[in-house]
Amino acid sequence: MSQPASKVSLTGIKPTGEPHLGNLVGAIRPALDLVKRYESIYFIADYHALTSIRDPKLLRHYTRSVAATWLAAGLDPEQTIMYRQSDIPEIFELHWALSCVTAKGLMNRAHAYKAARDQNAAAGREDLDGGINMGLYNYPVLMAVDILIMESDVVPVGKDQLQHVEYAADIAGTFNHLYGDSYQFKIPQAVIPQEDTGRTLPGLDGRKMSKSYDNTIPLFLPEGQLKKFIRRIPTDSTPVEAPKDPDSSSVFQILEQFATPDMIADTRKRLTAGGVGWGELKNQLFEVLNHEIAPMREKYHALMEPDSELETVLCEGAEKARERAQCVLSSVRSAIGIGR
Ligand code: ADP
Ligand code: TRP
Repeated sequence: MSQPASKVSLTGIKPTGEPHLGNLVGAIRPALDLVKRYESIYFIADYHALTSIRDPKLLRHYTRSVAATWLAAGLDPEQTIMYRQSDIPEIFELHWALSCVTAKGLMNRAHAYKAARDQNAAAGREDLDGGINMGLYNYPVLMAVDILIMESDVVPVGKDQLQHVEYAADIAGTFNHLYGDSYQFKIPQAVIPQEDTGRTLPGLDGRKMSKSYDNTIPLFLPEGQLKKFIRRIPTDSTPVEAPKDPDSSSVFQILEQFATPDMIADTRKRLTAGGVGWGELKNQLFEVLNHEIAPMREKYHALMEPDSELETVLCEGAEKARERAQCVLSSVRSAIGIGR
């Protein structure tokens, strides 16, 4: 582990789609940055994805794809722990134990569950719970277990996951109140990396790049496709000679996340002065992006081969993670009166 490695940071990634540029900028890079400051744990939350993905081939593909992406982006399995959630059976035993100390009312108030009910209400359905599975309802408890079983201190998440980390702290608090004389969970804290740095990448329609808007630039497109996607980023009809506002351009905003400070400053100057067309700026963006992504793309495709080292990395990660999980679960079992 890296030095000093006293506090534990845990990141969970739900494998529900192909990783895109926004994920790299807003989640992968900042999470990899934490390796310097924390003992870092990363896992693929494949059982969480099961609440929405019903195609077994696709779930397996996304799970491998997320793992390969993080490794290709620089996650070092020697320095960190990376595993598949489903490889840690202790998580699912603790899930039951913690469900039994979690107030149902807390789950009723969870944002994702409430949003699903609101959608039913808006569609005029009589049964507001229609189409909602128990996995979605119990999701926050499983997430709390992910966090607590690894004795995490900090959890880097997007804003939408903040409530879940608060729930984990809340559930840990309830457990500690009931059984604290025998075992105490660590109380975790959320950190929001992209808020610290203001990194939100726009997508192909100018809105936040997101799977849900179908406006993403997937990370590992072949070169020709990457060029095509970049050409689709909307621009206005300002003529080449006219001065342009860099800050209202999605192309420039993406460039800012990948170019060197010198190149950013120079491009800003040239755009403001006029004489640079959007086509030229898009070519520049392609060159810069491709320069960073090409080596990652090659690694990613090698890892996605059926006999790559991907499976070994995940199994070795699971072994390390299970050791930690078994330790915590054994203390919990003893505290609550389960087993001998
Ligand atoms: P999506 O919106 O595509 O479904 P997720 O919700 O799965 O993406 O996000 C996974 C992680 O990537 C989160 O930490 C989220 O904050 C980050 N992320 C997603 N899209 C962007 C974006 N456009 N800019 C910055 N970060 C993003
Ligand atoms: N719910 C998170 C998401 O949708 C994924 C996740 C599952 C997670 N378990 C976690 C994140 C534990 C952090 C810690 O993005």
